[in-house]
Amino acid sequence: MQLIERVAELSAALQAERDAGRRVGLVPTMGALHAGHQSLVERAAAECDVVAVTVFVNPLQFDEIGDLAAYPRTLAADVALAAAAGASIVFAPPVVEMYPGHPAPPATTVHVAGLTDRLEGASRPGHFDGVATVVTKLLVMAGPCRAYFGEKDFQQLGVVRQLVRDLCLPVEVVGCATVREPDGLALSSRNSRLSPDERRAATVLHRALQAGAATVGAGERQAGEVRAAMASALGREPLVAVDYAEVVDPRSLEPVDEIVGEVRLVLAAAVGPVRLIDNLAAGRPTVDDGFAGRPTADGAPAGRAGVDADAERIGV
Ligand code: PAF
Repeated sequence: MQLIERVAELSAALQAERDAGRRVGLVPTMGALHAGHQSLVERAAAECDVVAVTVFVNPLQFDEIGDLAAYPRTLAADVALAAAAGASIVFAPPVVEMYPGHPAPPATTVHVAGLTDRLEGASRPGHFDGVATVVTKLLVMAGPCRAYFGEKDFQQLGVVRQLVRDLCLPVEVVGCATVREPDGLALSSRNSRLSPDERRAATVLHRALQAGAATVGAGERQAGEVRAAMASALGREPLVAVDYAEVVDPRSLEPVDEIVGEVRLVLAAAVGPVRLIDNLAAGRPTVDDGFAGRPTADGAPAGRAGVDADAERIGV
């Protein structure tokens, strides 16, 4: 396992791999790795010859300073998990390596218009500029590769696909299914900050998504009824403060009124002090709409993401 802190060293190491004819897989993370990250690394290792995991708590994407300070940092354990899952490089740069002027904001940032106006973008101003900026930098540093992102951050996955397409980055974006606890809670580094009562309450997020998807599966075509089913489930849990529970088009992330084809049920809620997000596909995808499995961002052929998305679709 190589632990790299310098950008030039990462770029040179991955270029050497490509020069030797090896396919590079990249798994960008903010550390505090869990079984969800592990599944990304394992998939990257299955599909690529060499896997690099990046571990960088990106200050640019935190809209609340307290949230940044509280974000778990567990580098030694992250390196061990990444190695066990099949990575051979961990890139864990200090903040000034990524942002040389830090704490001054970088002069150049990346803004993905449209997709970032809604949902998380509306609730967390500046968040997606931070994500888009750091992901762009990491992808440029890594060079041609396959990059693996989880579907739990569904809007982020769309933003990454969009920026890769718009900036013509030589990257194939692979979306991977959300990994869940047996009780349905989506794995997240933030879960470690939940108290036992909050942890129990947090399971309502997945139950609400399932209630919404079951409503779609029963034939409901009015998105308002599906929203109401999710809101009703969430309303039964007093420790949960809902930010949004929406039915959106899976590509534009615009709210829909009438359900025709596939939709994405998305929600965000504070459980005690911890903000959690989750999502689920529902409805029937239109024939070969190229969405679920597509890494259209780069024009590369569809990977296994569609299969994974299907694994989480309810109500078809
Ligand atoms: O999903 C994350 O962990 C982060 O948003 C990412 C993509 C690593 C960018 O910091």
